[in-house]
Amino acid sequence: MGDRYLVTGGAGFIGSHIAERLLEEGHEVRVLDNLSTGHRKNVDPLVSRYPDRCVFQLGDVANEADCKAAMDGVQFAIHQAALASVPRSIADPVATHLANTTGTLNLMVAARDAGVSRFVFAGSSSVYGETKKLPKDESIYPSPLSPYALSKLIGEEYGKLFHMHYGLQTVTLRYFNVFGPRQDPDSPYAAVIPIFISSLLRGEAPTVHGDGLQSRDFTFVSNVVDANLAACRAPDASGIYNIACGARTTLLDLLDQVQTLLGTSIPPNHVETRAGDVRHSEADISRARSDLRFEPRVSFDEGLAPTVAFFKEQFSAQGASGPSRAT
Ligand code: NAD
Ligand code: UD1
Repeated sequence: MGDRYLVTGGAGFIGSHIAERLLEEGHEVRVLDNLSTGHRKNVDPLVSRYPDRCVFQLGDVANEADCKAAMDGVQFAIHQAALASVPRSIADPVATHLANTTGTLNLMVAARDAGVSRFVFAGSSSVYGETKKLPKDESIYPSPLSPYALSKLIGEEYGKLFHMHYGLQTVTLRYFNVFGPRQDPDSPYAAVIPIFISSLLRGEAPTVHGDGLQSRDFTFVSNVVDANLAACRAPDASGIYNIACGARTTLLDLLDQVQTLLGTSIPPNHVETRAGDVRHSEADISRARSDLRFEPRVSFDEGLAPTVAFFKEQFSAQGASGPSRAT
């Protein structure tokens, strides 16, 4: 008999991969999602494949009653639901606050009241902001540069307080730029890897903000799934962990690699640096290695090839208009 998990944001990119792995392992999964940036096409196949163990609940983490209903009978809560974009949060800080900050607080209250064994929160490397020190380790004092980063910092601080005051076991995983199949390429707030791939597939010049020498610790999604499972199960897991590969790639190098995989050579358009952008991002993952026994099993290069192949296949299946935004 498996365990009972709640995966919020399970109709999104990372959440759907976590839900899928849990179901493959034989667990029961409830997905809570309001489909604001997620899609039914990410979760429906899971409900069809595992009709007895996978339930989709359409609901909003900013709504207390939805959180209470979602948490009923749950042993492990894996909280991925959020508006996951730096520029979106600058355009609309209130929407980000409601989904990310109020939503996380509501869920922790519901988890506390339901007696959940452990609450795992999707944090973000954006909380570090600009640091002199690279790689970034968890002892660095956070310095958020956007409402999004601040919302993630507040979420992890609530995690500490809920442990301190109510004994709820909470773990924050500070993800560094995650990528892989099913990441949405079409939203105006999409992440750079799916944007680059889909622009090149359409034969269009990709847009590079700034000189393209900014760098990120790009992390394949299966590593992040591993980290979430370990965070639920490792006896010593507590507090905050960086989750990444522990390396960094510049945007120009990323673009070169994508062009090589696609067989294209379209020069990018350089535009102004994006507001709230961090220049360099690279993780020290020692803490996750030691407490969670976390190891990034898939390297950046190993993850990029299947990711490009996934989007290429989607593009061919859907014709030259590119991947659709159908839910
Ligand atoms: P995503 O947009 O694909 O998934 C987020 C999901 O949350 C979507 O399905 C969306 O519909 C849902 N959601 C949003 N607001 C909601 C609300 N109010 N109520 C219920 N559901 C809601 O994004 P993702 O890349 O899969 O990100 C998952 C989590 O990981 C987020 O918390 C994000 O901040 C965090 N994160 C992502 C990255 C990355 O590189 N992708 C890096 C660091 C942290
Ligand atoms: C990403 C995540 C965020 C996460 C953070 C830390 C997304 C949408 N955002 O933010 O949730 O918390 O990592 O891990 O997944 N860029 C271009 N051209 C483009 C798009 C982006 O040059 O068309 C640049 C940006 O200016 C930035 C870099 O690429 O320098 C990465 O941008 P993006 O993919 O949006 O990620 P982050 O802002 O790092």
